[in-house]
Amino acid sequence: MNLTNNVIRFTDRPEGRPTAETFAFDSETIRPLLNNEFLVKNLYLSMDPALVGRMRKEDNYAESVEPGEVMHAYAIGQVIQSNNKKVKVGEVRFGRFDMQEYAISNDTENTKAINLGLADPSWYLSLVGITGATAYFSLFDIGQPKRGETIVISAGGSSVGSTVAQMAKKVGCRTVAIVSTEEKAKQVIADWGYDAAVCYRGKSTEELEKQLALACPRGVDIYYDNTSGDISEALLDLYNENARIVVVGRLGISHLPDTRLDTGRRDNNVILSKRIKKQGFVLLDYQSKIMGAVIQIAKWIKQGDLKIKEDILHGIDKTPEAFFRMLDGKNDGKQLVKLADVNHQLDPSPRWLGAHLISKRFPTSILALMISRTRTSI
Ligand SMILES: NC(=O)c1ccc[n+]([C@@H]2O[C@H](COP(=O)([O-])OP(=O)(O)OC[C@H]3O[C@@H](n4cnc5c(N)ncnc54)[C@H](OP(=O)(O)O)[C@@H]3O)[C@@H](O)[C@H]2O)c1
Repeated sequence: MNLTNNVIRFTDRPEGRPTAETFAFDSETIRPLLNNEFLVKNLYLSMDPALVGRMRKEDNYAESVEPGEVMHAYAIGQVIQSNNKKVKVGEVRFGRFDMQEYAISNDTENTKAINLGLADPSWYLSLVGITGATAYFSLFDIGQPKRGETIVISAGGSSVGSTVAQMAKKVGCRTVAIVSTEEKAKQVIADWGYDAAVCYRGKSTEELEKQLALACPRGVDIYYDNTSGDISEALLDLYNENARIVVVGRLGISHLPDTRLDTGRRDNNVILSKRIKKQGFVLLDYQSKIMGAVIQIAKWIKQGDLKIKEDILHGIDKTPEAFFRMLDGKNDGKQLVKLADVNHQLDPSPRWLGAHLISKRFPTSILALMISRTRTSI
């Protein structure tokens, strides 16, 4: 097979925010597979804020991308050739297959076959994939929401934020979003059932704090922090005793040339006097438990308990545009790029099994609890 692979290369580390020059289009002929390798045709690429962290050369939980390399990205792809006994042709797999049309891999540990009886392929990059699993484990393991509590979610309209909001609402929490504009504030209330939403753009920390105090009349029990930086500082005087802060993202400081340049009020006094727990979350730590979240979330979607929203551009040449839509907050739902359709006839996975695991009679939540060891009560 003589295939041409169109790719997006990472040119050089940006000083601060990435620009159009951070990416370059290129194409190459795909080489023959070596032993244990398999060739994947990418179907969907995921545009994640964490890609900015990969462009930096600083201490991070994810591997850095090197200048000249194909830009990293998680993707869903279908195997079209295999020299690996563990990987079947036709299988649809999730993994870091990067910003390109085809990927060669020999990694069967970090790329996983997915079951299309449980969910559509793109959903494995959104609500049943990175987004949903991040929301599920960080909220229930660290946030530990209880009925009647108030949760504030920064980047409240983001895919992760809106999923956390839906889950917390089902538990019986008051949900409050922090978003960029008044228009977005109205939209997240309508779309995700937030009880209140405040906007941060153009406001001082003091002004944002006043708005948050009005939106949280019983104080704040959980702060779900997708941004870090100045936005998070506005919460400091609003916490109740034994509040939990779940640190999940750094969207608010990603424009800095070095995230160590972030400055602000020190929070130790509040943490100590209010007995607050503040904990960072990295999804990679949950890899062995992820299937529990996947089946539980797929069941919740089927029951109508969780909604999904995706924003899809088409074609590899649209990938940088999709990346900047995500970075500028212009995306309406999880930002994806679609490259190809799945060939359903080729897929050898037992779809009947996936469909059975989320069927009405099957005790999905018990199985999900056994695999994920995460207690949920929605
Ligand atoms: N730790 C982990 O394992 C893990 C895994 C997955 C995701 N995450 C984190 O989860 C967060 C949400 O990710 P996602 O994929 O759900 O994002 P997303 O759907 O792409 O949404 C990103 C949103 O962030 C907001 N935003 C962008 N720049 C911002 C800035 N400078 N300050 C404040 N807000 C800004 C925008 O909303 P506004 O217009 O309202 O500002 C935008 O809509 C990110 O921080 C990501 O890194 C963490």
